[in-house]
Amino acid sequence: MDIIIRENYEQMSKYAAQIIANVVRTKPNCVLGLATGSTPIGTYRELVRMHREEGLDFSEVTTFNLDEYLGVGIDLDKPYHLDQSYARFMYEELFKHINIKKENIHIPDGLTTNPNEHCKWYEEQIKKAGGIDLQLLGIGRDGHWGFNEPGSSLGSRTRVVALTEQTLNDNYEAFYKKANISRSEMPHFAITMGIGTILEARNILMIANGAGKADVVAKCLEGPVTSQITSSAIQLHSGGITVVLDKEAASKLKNIDYYRHVETLKHQYGL
Ligand code: F6R
Repeated sequence: MDIIIRENYEQMSKYAAQIIANVVRTKPNCVLGLATGSTPIGTYRELVRMHREEGLDFSEVTTFNLDEYLGVGIDLDKPYHLDQSYARFMYEELFKHINIKKENIHIPDGLTTNPNEHCKWYEEQIKKAGGIDLQLLGIGRDGHWGFNEPGSSLGSRTRVVALTEQTLNDNYEAFYKKANISRSEMPHFAITMGIGTILEARNILMIANGAGKADVVAKCLEGPVTSQITSSAIQLHSGGITVVLDKEAASKLKNIDYYRHVETLKHQYGL
């Protein structure tokens, strides 16, 4: 596991975007797993800049998003219709700015009339695409990946879940409040890839920033593997893992000096 610590949010975002861009350049038809939330916004902006200024080409890229609220969504033919879905977020922050094909974008459908069937279908689509080459992840303050709240099985698959109070509060503050949507009107259920689904990605890229994430980042990376911190399953992943943190999110890591030392050594030896 490579743990990379950067000075601030901007540098964290640039580093993460560079990792994604390298995958896109080396495998133009790669499959990316994507996340929403405040953390990846800077990463997406940097990818958009690379597309515009450096010609980073997404025309053959396929994407699968981690999750979506149940009860919200957008019509892909009218992607700029305003709502609070994660689909809208992805269009606004990334998809409408790059040359990705609409048919290559996958986001769980929050408006599905048969959520359980849809979850199975979503898993099949990931398999059909050949699996995920690189999964981008944030981390919730309760340690979740996707909407895998504490207590989710570490082998879980794509499914319908109920959101915790903390996640509802965090999302309300980050997104819904600004849109004048009351907390009671927010969706209380979501579709999420499971932890088992996420762990099948060949490579994992987790990003976190800010002092508010310091405790949970330390629990995830250095604490016991537990379904109470579902992202701690990162310790079980067998592929490539890169964790990019700003210095505040890294501030409670016990082995921080070692992680910095490893990064310096790898740099020196060109590894
Ligand atoms: C988003 C997602 C969530 C977020 C997490 C952190 O698709 O699956 O797990 O990554 O809640 O959110 P932010 O980045 O807003 O702190």
